[in-house]
Amino acid sequence: MTEALLPYCATHDASDAPTAADCGGAARDIAEHACQVLVNQPVNAEYRHMVVRAPAGASLAQPGQFFHLACPPGASGSTFLRRPMSVYGADPVRRTVEFLYKVQGAGTQGLATLQPGDTLDALGPLGSGFSLPDCTQHLLLLARGVGLATLSPLAAHAVARGARVTAVLSARSKALVMSAQRWRAAGATVHIVTDEDGDSDPLQLEAYLRDQHAKQPFDFLSTCGSNRLLVLLQKLGNEWDVAGQTAIEQHMGCGMGSCYACVRPFRESAGSDRLTFRRVCWDGPVFDLQETTSW
Ligand code: FES
Repeated sequence: MTEALLPYCATHDASDAPTAADCGGAARDIAEHACQVLVNQPVNAEYRHMVVRAPAGASLAQPGQFFHLACPPGASGSTFLRRPMSVYGADPVRRTVEFLYKVQGAGTQGLATLQPGDTLDALGPLGSGFSLPDCTQHLLLLARGVGLATLSPLAAHAVARGARVTAVLSARSKALVMSAQRWRAAGATVHIVTDEDGDSDPLQLEAYLRDQHAKQPFDFLSTCGSNRLLVLLQKLGNEWDVAGQTAIEQHMGCGMGSCYACVRPFRESAGSDRLTFRRVCWDGPVFDLQETTSW
């Protein structure tokens, strides 16, 4: 396996690359990696699980970070831009990185064609991941769709740090619920809700979460994958005075803070009516729960 290293920001001096100052003052260890595909198989009718052998720098990716993937041509042809993909797992001992992705467009159709032994060009790790407070004792994770992939490594990370994790996994149907075993194996208490069972709507979820909070209060909240779940968690976090973070999905261009294709409005601070504009790829994709605007 070849490994191409093209570090940006921290050490790359090409004139079109963002400097540390351009990137918000932070120096990050970003590189383009040639990763060997180990596994790329369907997990249900919509999603696939890919595991790649990754260089040391890539396998140190933190929960909430992402890679910008160069996708091979698929059934719908080639893609010009890379596709951002959140990290589903990263193991620096085995030197692996995992992705859980929905096949829904030209880029992911191309990813689905990769076979074990093929090479995946992955730029990263990119973005700012979750920052769990040291004192966190009971973390609530609310995930739907691709949010299950994004929040899964945070569950393992929190349990490893001694926190209790309660996870709500939401999906359209039971057949589309992914990773429940993985979350349980990581030590999370998992509650599954689905549209087909009628228990995934925010009103019913709110009742469940209030009950859980009354039994053992949450002291940090995170969500990903659903606007309705984001709004619900903002309401509860505000009422309970509990902080949190959310990971945002967004179309991207460069993925490294240079092109401003991913800019979105955020509240200047929790509760503020004043908006500020931030780059999801560089300032996030993880943001303060109360500063994030719904869509
Ligand atoms: Fe270019 Fe975010 S994708 S600045």
